[in-house]
Parts: sequence; C-alpha cells; structure tokens
Amino acid sequence: MLKVLVLVSGGGTNLQAILDSIADGRIKDAEVVGVISNNPNAYALKRAEAAGVPGRCISPKSFGTREEFNEKFLEAVDACQPDLIVLAGFLVVIPPAMTAKYRNRIINIHPSLIPSFCGTGYYGLKVHEAALERGVKVVGATVHFVDEGTDTGPIILQKAVEVRPGDTPEILQRRVMEQAEWKILPEAVDLIAHGRVSVTDGRAAVTEEDR
Ligand code: GRF
Repeated sequence: MLKVLVLVSGGGTNLQAILDSIADGRIKDAEVVGVISNNPNAYALKRAEAAGVPGRCISPKSFGTREEFNEKFLEAVDACQPDLIVLAGFLVVIPPAMTAKYRNRIINIHPSLIPSFCGTGYYGLKVHEAALERGVKVVGATVHFVDEGTDTGPIILQKAVEVRPGDTPEILQRRVMEQAEWKILPEAVDLIAHGRVSVTDGRAAVTEEDR
C-alpha cells in the first residue's frame, strides 16, 4: 500500500480528486496518510478532516528564519513516513534537503503544458492570464517529479485542454482543473502505486500494464 502525503495551500480540489479516486477505486493500493498545509485557513484541511485524514499546519510565518522552518517542515514530513509526496497547489518552495531525500518521490501538478507557462511567477491564475495573453489555442496540465528547479523535473503525464473564444482566466482555470488536473493527478498516483513510473537520465517513462 503506497503511503501518500499531500501538501496543500488552498482550496484542495486536487486533494479531493485523489481522495475521491481512492474511494471509488480509480486509485488502487494507495492511501492518504496525512495532509500538511502552510496556510491555517486552507479549505483543504477541512476536506482532510471530512475524509478522516490527519491534517496539520506548518507555516514559514511561525518561524524566525527560513532554515528553522525548513528543518521543522522536513521533520513533519518525515513523521508521516510517506512513500510519495504530492504537491497539490502547494505554494511553498520545497527545501533542497527534502528534494534530495525524496528524489523521484515528490510529484507536483502544474496547470500548463510544461515547458509553456511555467517556472518562477507562474502559479494560480497568472498561468491562465499568460496563456490568454499569448493567444494559444491549446493549454493543459502537467504532473511531474520535483527537482531543485521550478517546474523542471521529469514529466510523468500531460493532458491538453482547448481554449475557447470568450474564455477568461477564471473560466480557463476551471476547465483545466476539470478536464486535466483532476484526472491526471489521481492517474499518476495510481501509476506510481503500481510501480509503473520510472526515471532514466532525467526523463520519466510510464510502463505498460502487465497483462
Ligand atoms: C491548481 O490549479 C494547481 O494546478 C495549482 O494550484 C491550484 C490548486 O488548486 N498548482 P486546489 O487547491 O487543488 O483546488
């Protein structure tokens, strides 16, 4: 059974997609053992509570220095003994010590087709604003492993979503979530739970299901 720890900062719809997928069997052989938020008011913590999953908050604002926070944050993560850490809308930079310790065991969902509209400054609505500003006709989402860079790790899954005339950043954000994020994030967790994702030379590959 793959032990999954989910890190969140906000609404937690991606967390919910994982919890629902475990409940209805789209994700097998995995359980969410904990949820950690940097934001005490994150609705995601309520979702964790409703699902009976232990949730806790650890915020950089409660510590004098970033180093102190990073140390306590890593301790909190280690305490959950996760096999996989999922960043589901988590807005805090992962400490280098955590990236190194959990190499190819931390995944992130990003609301664009990497390498478009990603990297520093591209988060939340800003991603969709930039896509509309550029006039692209196809957007989407990416699940990738987390490395030392911002949105630079090995890509596991991507799904494209159409841009439609009249889209606003909010409308596009919602469509990307519904049609891409809430599908490929649970799918990636299921693939990892079944040992079907490997990384070679910095690139991830999904192996065929055993027949
Ligand atoms: C999602 O768009 C995700 O791709 C991004 O942050 C948002 C989080 O939404 N990284 P939620 O908290 O899962 O509802």
